[in-house]
Amino acid sequence: MSDPSALAAAARDGLNFEAIRGQFPQTAECVYLNTGTVGLCPLPVVEALLERVRAFEVDGQIGWGPAEAGMNAARSQLAKFLGVAPDELVFTRNATEGTNLVTTGVAWRSGDEVLLSDEEHPSMELPWHYLQQQGRIQLRRFPVSRHPEQTLAAAEAAITPRTRLVATSHVFCHSGNRAPAGELAALCRERGVLLHLDGAQAVGQFRLDLAEMGADFYTGNCHKWLLGPKGTGFLVLRPGGEADLTPCHVGAGSAARFDPAEGLTLRESGHRFEYGTRDFARFAALEPLLDWWGGVGLEAAEGHMRQLAAYLKERLRELPSLVLHTADTWGDSSAMTTFSLPGRTANEIVSALWERHRVMTRPVGDWEAVRISTALYNTREEIDRLVQILWELDC
Ligand SMILES: Cc1ncc(COP(=O)(O)O)c(C=O)c1O
Repeated sequence: MSDPSALAAAARDGLNFEAIRGQFPQTAECVYLNTGTVGLCPLPVVEALLERVRAFEVDGQIGWGPAEAGMNAARSQLAKFLGVAPDELVFTRNATEGTNLVTTGVAWRSGDEVLLSDEEHPSMELPWHYLQQQGRIQLRRFPVSRHPEQTLAAAEAAITPRTRLVATSHVFCHSGNRAPAGELAALCRERGVLLHLDGAQAVGQFRLDLAEMGADFYTGNCHKWLLGPKGTGFLVLRPGGEADLTPCHVGAGSAARFDPAEGLTLRESGHRFEYGTRDFARFAALEPLLDWWGGVGLEAAEGHMRQLAAYLKERLRELPSLVLHTADTWGDSSAMTTFSLPGRTANEIVSALWERHRVMTRPVGDWEAVRISTALYNTREEIDRLVQILWELDC
């Protein structure tokens, strides 16, 4: 263990930091500061995944039952982790797919407007723009701020009698700032407007109680901050929310009944969106993943990420010309911190960090900024190394 301060902080938080970091071999190869793009999966979970994939592939139909049962056990566990009932959770391949289930599923009416935040990932931009291009909605935007109360006020001011749905990230992928999710849900309920939240960057960073939050639709993935298998995601519907969405695709698994004369009756749960043969084993591996999280403790992990984000901001402020795009307080931000260095392009910084120093970060091209993800497996020492390199680049 090379970072005693991280160890001390982790011990205080109840984390066995050394043992945890040892389960992420890539941390010995580079400084991995890009969990916001894709997380590292802990080795015991990788092994559990491969075991499940192997069993299904080797056993064929004989392995179908156990693999599907494993997926449904994982569904129950993930639903509990998110504070919802298993029937409200649809498994998807990624967060983008969940958003597309909403854009293609709502019965849009002529004149409907969708109010989208102005800081979105292409996975939220493109499905809504595509819908507008097809003439099915009119897209309006509302500005987001590092102060959640200003974001809420901007959304409220932008709602019109034609607004049918508000869509926003829960944690914004450029700045790492948070949207006031619960307040937006209350506002949308009051105005009779649907709310779609994109939690791609939120799940695994802090505790979520989606039932209490009360959004109509919440899309997320398990391959970023939850550190799970790539190609696993979900869409959570509010109770009965499946009735708001007409599936674009159906097949074996999605209908409760089918009679050629009477037609098909869709299942009354999120299952209506799942059909056909699937990568059951990959989803089944979410069960050992969530067991692993049970051992680590999400609160302890959040404490560690919160301290690292605060330390990173403190150290970045030492660079006189640096501009920080992320809010100060944890409740308004996350484990993603974004900055610009005037006079340096984002690609210059990110390339120099990776090619010369093996420090993996992500450019935020629109802002000529760099995003740093400080995850469960990162250390203060890695932040010190990053800041030292930035000093060298800045002079
Ligand atoms: C806010 C946001 N939404 C959606 C996505 C896309 O996630 P996925 O690859 O799981 O579809 C990302 C990925 O970075 C993101 O940051």
